[in-house]
Amino acid sequence: MNKHALITGITGQDGAYLSQLLLGKGYRVHGILARRSSDTLWRLRKLGIADEVELIDGDLTDLSSLIRALQTSKADEVYNLGAQSFVGSSWQQPLLTAQVDGVGALNVLEAVRIVNPAARFYQASTSEMFGLIQAEMQDESTPFYPRSPYGVAKLMAHWATVNYRESFGLHASSGILFNHESPLRGIEFVTRKVTDAVARIKLGLQQELRLGNIDSKRDWGFAGDYVEAMWLMTQQAEADDYVIATGRTTTVREMCRIAFEHVGLSMEDALVIDPAFVRPAEVDVLLGNPAKAKAKLGWTPRTSLEQLITGMVDADLRRLQR
Ligand code: NAP
Ligand code: GDD
Repeated sequence: MNKHALITGITGQDGAYLSQLLLGKGYRVHGILARRSSDTLWRLRKLGIADEVELIDGDLTDLSSLIRALQTSKADEVYNLGAQSFVGSSWQQPLLTAQVDGVGALNVLEAVRIVNPAARFYQASTSEMFGLIQAEMQDESTPFYPRSPYGVAKLMAHWATVNYRESFGLHASSGILFNHESPLRGIEFVTRKVTDAVARIKLGLQQELRLGNIDSKRDWGFAGDYVEAMWLMTQQAEADDYVIATGRTTTVREMCRIAFEHVGLSMEDALVIDPAFVRPAEVDVLLGNPAKAKAKLGWTPRTSLEQLITGMVDADLRRLQR
């Protein structure tokens, strides 16, 4: 019998890669489609799987729609990836972010508890919860100190996941994922903003690239590697929380340099620092320790930052040339 999975956020970067992974494993993949006016299926189309997933109307802020989705999909595994995921927007839309990312996760947990408490649940937690870091390298025991409305909302969802595991015995795991990117990354995030701009500058379509704080450091990995960790978590006998990261941190400046040098351009000629992109509070450094995931899940990242960024530049060049 094929297993059934339900994914919230199926139209996002991770939702698309996770769908591809699960379809490859023989799952029937169902996804919540929060209807928008613009085309949100482009990532699933790009991976050639838009017709293979089963979409169900719903929204994280509407518990009744989630209950119906659990019933319709008969899900054995539920992956809560849906979110207002752009940190920068969370200061402009703090209440929406809290409703979708915090209360929304609680809604999914409630739907699981009501419809099928035996279903396995994955929560998309984040290194943003570490914020003002309390240890040089962050792992599962590092105290949290969120620095954005997004981080605060995600922290609620993280603790709700732990609480439902401890209160009701749900198989509920929280993946504390550090930044992960791909050619399917939204254009507002810094890696994709950079790779798209570098490709445009190379092709003569744009002159400059405007960024905010280029001294911040992130632990960047490839989204395709990270969705495997999500699946591995739901396959364990016991639910638990895991840090998923590469163990290497790099400044935005250096990441940017890799992109420019890949196409033989000088970063200094194009980069403009623009205060408009500086955030009210910054997460200066993130560096994760994935030792637990390696030991217990057998998970390790397979893609270097150089492979990731040059691959994203090449993908943007191909797209723009078409
Ligand atoms: P993403 O590309 O921004 O995708 C977010 C998804 O959530 C989209 O499918 C979006 O639908 C959906 N969504 C937004 N509001 C919703 C609502 N009210 N109801 C239902 N669905 C809604 O994000 P991602 O990079 O794939 O990340 C996946 C998850 O992991 C997110 O929860 C994110 O916060 C978390 N995370 C990401 C990273 C990372 O580096 N990528 C790291 C740690 C944690 P539309 O397409 O219709 O907008
Ligand atoms: N987006 C963006 N745009 N970021 C910029 C810019 C710019 O023009 N200039 C500098 N940055 C800096 C940000 O200030 C931040 O320090 C860093 O680049 C990374 O920004 P993002 O790519 O927007 O990612 P993020 O780290 O804030 O959040 C992402 O990772 C989290 C995990 O740590 C998102 O994917 C979150 O959803 C995720 O939880």
